[in-house]
Amino acid sequence: MIWITLLWATLLTAVVSRPEERRGNLAVCETISRAISSTSDVYYPGELTYLRDIYHWAISSTQYSACTVEPGTAEDVGIILRILSSTQTPFAVKGGGHASNPGFSSTTGVHISMYLFSEVTYDPASETVVIGSGLIWDDVYESLAPHGVNVVGGRVTGVGVAGFILGGGFSWLTNQYGLTIDTVVAYELVKPNGEIATVTANSDADLFFALKGGLNNFGIVTRFTLRTFPQGQVWGGLITYTQDHLSEVNAVAVKFANDVTDPKAAIITTYNFLLGQPGVSQLLFYDGPTPPDGIFDDFLAIPHFSMDVKTRDFVSLVLASPSNATANLRGVFNTVSLLRYSDTLIDAIVNETTFWGARLGFDSGLFISYDVEPFRPNIFSVSDTRTDSAYPPSRSVGLLPLNLYYAWAFEISDDTFQDAIRQSAAHLYNVAVGQGQSDIVGAVVYPNYAIFDTPVESLYGSNVARMKQIKASVDPDNVMALAGGFKI
Ligand SMILES: Cc1cc2nc3c(=O)[nH]c(=O)nc-3n(C[C@H](O)[C@H](O)[C@H](O)COP(=O)(O)OP(=O)(O)OC[C@H]3O[C@@H](n4cnc5c(N)ncnc54)[C@H](O)[C@@H]3O)c2cc1C
Ligand SMILES: *[C@@H]1O[C@H](CO)[C@@H](O)[C@H](O)[C@H]1NC(C)=O
Ligand SMILES: *[C@@H]1O[C@H](CO)[C@@H](O)[C@H](O)[C@H]1NC(C)=O
Repeated sequence: MIWITLLWATLLTAVVSRPEERRGNLAVCETISRAISSTSDVYYPGELTYLRDIYHWAISSTQYSACTVEPGTAEDVGIILRILSSTQTPFAVKGGGHASNPGFSSTTGVHISMYLFSEVTYDPASETVVIGSGLIWDDVYESLAPHGVNVVGGRVTGVGVAGFILGGGFSWLTNQYGLTIDTVVAYELVKPNGEIATVTANSDADLFFALKGGLNNFGIVTRFTLRTFPQGQVWGGLITYTQDHLSEVNAVAVKFANDVTDPKAAIITTYNFLLGQPGVSQLLFYDGPTPPDGIFDDFLAIPHFSMDVKTRDFVSLVLASPSNATANLRGVFNTVSLLRYSDTLIDAIVNETTFWGARLGFDSGLFISYDVEPFRPNIFSVSDTRTDSAYPPSRSVGLLPLNLYYAWAFEISDDTFQDAIRQSAAHLYNVAVGQGQSDIVGAVVYPNYAIFDTPVESLYGSNVARMKQIKASVDPDNVMALAGGFKI
């Protein structure tokens, strides 16, 4: 069904897009095709690989490019970048395709998909792993499990490693080891001029800093080297509750957020509005086969609608998340940075789901959700290897990223839903400030949850000036501006 829709849309785009522009882009595709090695390939509309390449979790993040390129070597990425630069062709770089913002990993020009960068090479001696930038976390976890180790990566199924790492990375293991960027040892980077570099704290401290949160502003990453940590069985999974138990869940979630200090414990409480009703789904996580008494008992005691909580492999816990249920809808994220959760704030969040659910119910695809993701207040300072990073600009206060996610069916609803999610974030921000969270005034928001026109100052704060200098030195011709995203 989805494939058929995509095919039709592809044909339509081919007919309606500007013919000269299209001919120009196609000529660039042919130039690339002739220049790259036999390990890489170019695909065109109508081919199945083309559809896989442009695919996104949120369908509103997909555009129909002139062609797609799957580079197989860093050298070929360099060749492609040089051609795109000299022809000033708009392009996109896609890892796992989970960008929630339109145009961030899509283009009508040349679309680069990193799928062929799929290696997972574990080195027990250095306790690090090299992972390709075309992978999703599910595959990384599965490859590492036999070695009894893990990395600090995504919490739910299907998310790409590349965008996730380059934007920061909030993980089930963040309370213990920090953000994913705190665990990066090296980036293999193809610079905007096509040069290949291994960027480490010692080789280029500035670029290393900039790549920690700076997304696609500084080139295309082909491989990440991450620290690994011992990983055994974990405990947790998904519980869903119906509307009549909301107030009990609220109380327990607030208590968890404020009282639990065990860094191995984490939750995501998702308030949603679906089919005319508010509801809540609860993900529980403990980094060990059995959690100590008292941490999760209250969640388990509330009568549930469904429950899949047990001792399991890490990847099994990730696969238990329900996030694919809303894949293939249009969608957008927004976010508010918080310091803590309270009953009043949770009540306001629940009120947002019903308020906007009722307002936006005209769109049959309507799904509204608010992910409450409490972390320990010290998450920005917990890692022993953390160095300077573009995000967050200050490590002194831990900012908890509230994730707002709206999904819908029809393109004609785009503006209405995007406008609503802005109003909702602004309202919750005001509620939190009104409750005394004055430190969030002027605080940055998490790049991977921020809505598309968020100014870079709101992502990187006082780091923007340094990032601009680094940008000017690594990308003087501003090649990366030909790709979408938050631009330095
Ligand atoms: C269902 C779902 C769950 C999520 N869960 C979490 C979570 O638990 N924690 C969290 O922190 N975030 C989470 N996120 C947010 C996630 O971090 C971002 O969506 C991230 O962009 C996903 O990376 P990707 O590679 O899949 O995205 P893509 O859409 O492929 O890329 C995103 C951005 O990164 C750039 N990029 C991609 N590959 C490269 C590359 N090789 N070199 C340079 N730039 C590149 C793209 O150009 C684009 O701007 C979630 C998102 C979704 C949709
Ligand atoms: C979710 O969808 C992605 C494709 O986007 C897929 O790789 C992943 O295996 C799916 N997960 C589950 C649990 O079905
Ligand atoms: C519910 O949300 C709407 C929209 O943000 C807001 O105007 C209203 O004041 C809220 N009501 C309560 C009781 O919080």
